[in-house]
Amino acid sequence: MKQQFSILAILISVLFTTACRQAPKLQPTGLVAEKAMVVSARVEASKIGSNILAKGGNAFDAMVATELALAVAYPFAGNIGGGGFMVYRKADGTTGAIDYREKAPLAAHADMYLDSLGNVIPNKSTTGATSVGVPGTIAGVFAVHKRFGKLPMTQLIAPAIALAKRGVVVTEKQEKRLKRYRNIIAKVSGDSTLLALSYKQGDTIKYHALASTLTKIQQNGRDAFYKGETAKQLAAFIQAKGGYITEEDLAKYEAKWRSPISFKYKGLKVVSMSPPSSGGITIQQIMGMIEPHNLANYGHNSVKTIQVIAEAERRAYADRNYFLGDPDFVEIPMQKLGNKAYLKERMASFSLDKATKSTDVGHGQIQISESNETTHYSIIDAAGNAVSATTTLNGGYGSKLYSEELGFFFNNEMDDFSSKPGVPNMFGLIGAEANSIAPEKRMLSSMTPTIVEKDGKLFMVVGSPGGSTIITSVLQTILNVYEFNLSMQEAVNAPRFHHQWLPDIVMFEKGGFPSETIQELKAKGYQTTTDRAPILGKVDAILVLPNGKLEGGADKRGDDAAIGF
Ligand code: DON
Repeated sequence: MKQQFSILAILISVLFTTACRQAPKLQPTGLVAEKAMVVSARVEASKIGSNILAKGGNAFDAMVATELALAVAYPFAGNIGGGGFMVYRKADGTTGAIDYREKAPLAAHADMYLDSLGNVIPNKSTTGATSVGVPGTIAGVFAVHKRFGKLPMTQLIAPAIALAKRGVVVTEKQEKRLKRYRNIIAKVSGDSTLLALSYKQGDTIKYHALASTLTKIQQNGRDAFYKGETAKQLAAFIQAKGGYITEEDLAKYEAKWRSPISFKYKGLKVVSMSPPSSGGITIQQIMGMIEPHNLANYGHNSVKTIQVIAEAERRAYADRNYFLGDPDFVEIPMQKLGNKAYLKERMASFSLDKATKSTDVGHGQIQISESNETTHYSIIDAAGNAVSATTTLNGGYGSKLYSEELGFFFNNEMDDFSSKPGVPNMFGLIGAEANSIAPEKRMLSSMTPTIVEKDGKLFMVVGSPGGSTIITSVLQTILNVYEFNLSMQEAVNAPRFHHQWLPDIVMFEKGGFPSETIQELKAKGYQTTTDRAPILGKVDAILVLPNGKLEGGADKRGDDAAIGF
């Protein structure tokens, strides 16, 4: 009797697990909240954002508070010395986007990073004052608040100021990161600079100078950053270090409202960032190229699925690098790039038998290094407004140039321009004339803050850091849920791969893929690596479940956290 009972128990549990596998979307594995949620790179920032929502603030208010909280809690990428992009979808279904990307200073010119022989000068566009673009973050949050904010700005800035004064506890991952970057920060900014000191997990770092800069902004608004005393200090500091930013550059900076890229993929509508980010148009191209294939049948991370996606990525990145740049400076053939017939033609040379060669799609041979020094956060409020924002200093701690007086790091976003056509930037991206440097031009980005609708309703808010791997990380997260029925948290955690045309190589996260899969791809002519990227992307996302509740996907690769109610 006892034995019969245990056999029955086993049978029931097998049946139950099989049923779960068929309908995993009903089985969230991430944090589930009833009404509202913020997912970001640090629990302190998610909490601050979520508290603003709980106090009656909307998703836009929470965006302002979260963005500034990340500037304090996550100095690796959170910033007021950098810039970003935000895509929104309001509860009534209207969508839009804001570009608070950095721009080139007035003194910039196409050859500014080349020596007299026309060669790229090492480090000039990546390290120190020469690499800094005019910061956009403060302009961005003020523009968002002006248009959509509900609570007073002073209330939205206050929690970041309090956090900076109270201090932020160093996590294990942060200790490692600070150790890795200490020498270069010390070299650029001096060895007594706040983040060049030695910290251990559990230490509390207080950011008094940043608190004081944020307090000035709280008291006197946007102009307390872009004009007057702070602007003077900022410009003088950058110039004393050999950089180009002037008070005029700061005074002229404006965030810009943009129309996002919107397109259909099967039953989904995807809304993502438009140029000067390449994110939206490139994900549109990739999804357009893979749409005719039945990925769900091929299976998650199967050889065939990887082939279809990698080949689409190869072709889309070749277009990205050639055609895209700041739309205020270059003509981009947007209609053609997203056109289904054009995308079909691009994939005509694709075969499941054999890898296409990138040399047959474009030219060049390069090295790349991957990292995750940007940061993304996703927000949904109780009314159903959604915000998807990605913000960056570009490299980890940006240019490594830290102002002790102002309390923050400056970006090294100038490296996102193409210093010289055909020569790769730090992400191995090879640019062309469309992304050459010009005064006041915005450098091309890969940031892909994205919102997905299903059946006309809000479905997912998603985005990631990861330089050139952002687009493919966002892509795979959407497909993991929609094609392969993973829960939001599973979709975020699942191992990822990446192809970007050049170098002609499929990058896999180490340990995430069976060696047979990689062997089979090699046999078909793919070059592969598991060494270049310990991790690909660091996705923070929210899924609206069929019952209307929200599931958070906070990437296990970082200290990321979902907080909601
Ligand atoms: O805008 C861009 O595409 C880059 N500056 C993003 C940099 C990034 O994601 C850093 N992390 N790898």
